[in-house]
Amino acid sequence: MSGARAVTTNQPDIYDKLEEVVRKYASTEYLRPIADHTRIAFAEAEKFVLNFYEQKIPTLVAMRTKQQVVKCCPPACAGMTNQGTGGNEGGAVRGTYKVILDSGCGTGESTLNIAIANPDVPVIGIDKSAARLTKAGGAGLNGAAGLNCAAPRNAFLVRAELLDFWRLALGKVKAGQWHIPYHALYYPNPWPKQSEATRRFHLHPIFPTLLQLGDTLELRTNWELYAREFAEAARVATPDCSIAREPFDPERPITAFERKYKEARQQLWRVTINHV
Ligand SMILES: C[S@@+](CC[C@H](N)C(=O)[O-])C[C@H]1O[C@@H](n2cnc3c(N)ncnc32)[C@H](O)[C@@H]1O
Repeated sequence: MSGARAVTTNQPDIYDKLEEVVRKYASTEYLRPIADHTRIAFAEAEKFVLNFYEQKIPTLVAMRTKQQVVKCCPPACAGMTNQGTGGNEGGAVRGTYKVILDSGCGTGESTLNIAIANPDVPVIGIDKSAARLTKAGGAGLNGAAGLNCAAPRNAFLVRAELLDFWRLALGKVKAGQWHIPYHALYYPNPWPKQSEATRRFHLHPIFPTLLQLGDTLELRTNWELYAREFAEAARVATPDCSIAREPFDPERPITAFERKYKEARQQLWRVTINHV
């Protein structure tokens, strides 16, 4: 996977109507109906979380992946397993289940890595691409026959549309049933053409939902402009959050795209948004 091209764009700087767009969506609700397939996928994820905490998982999630699983903890996850829970063993806080999301997980490599680093918390990897998930032995294949390598029991991959999954997840958070300490958004599609800008998550009506979901949201990207825009959109939408944007160079890549970009010696960027 070497030789990845750097992002090219006809957009000279951060989106010129960023503030207007972000403010508009901050005061409106995203009402597109939720697709049935994502409702079904979400119900599966809910069941997985429940079973995890009730210790009823019948079999280990079996995964087939050619990628080596790197046993390292993404920096933003470090030490968060029992964060703020008053000594809970399994991550449940007074009837609230801790859940980590890995949105746009692709082949699920990051999901496995985050799960290994956080063994007490279920980690849900979500992607709409059956092809990518199938590479990992993922969506709908959890525990299926023919998969040849065991993954951590707290990892679960699901095929779903993020714009819908996030709204369903926020419903659980608002109901006090889920608590999302960490949300990974690693290398989302950049939509680099200026005319495509409003397809980027931070210029889309879904952005307020995304920001409300968890304690820490970590975006990774190989496009500096995307990182700047994302951080600026978060600043406009949630002035009370702490927002950090920085270049970073992971010692060991934890996603397929991260590896590809690193091999191509591209600069990587990280934006971390913390609710304070
Ligand atoms: C550039 S890839 C990065 C994959 C992975 N995070 C990695 O770093 O290897 C972006 C992924 O996001 C997924 N994706 C993009 N938009 C999505 C959406 N609206 N719902 C679900 N998945 C989405 C794509 O299918 C793709 O697998």
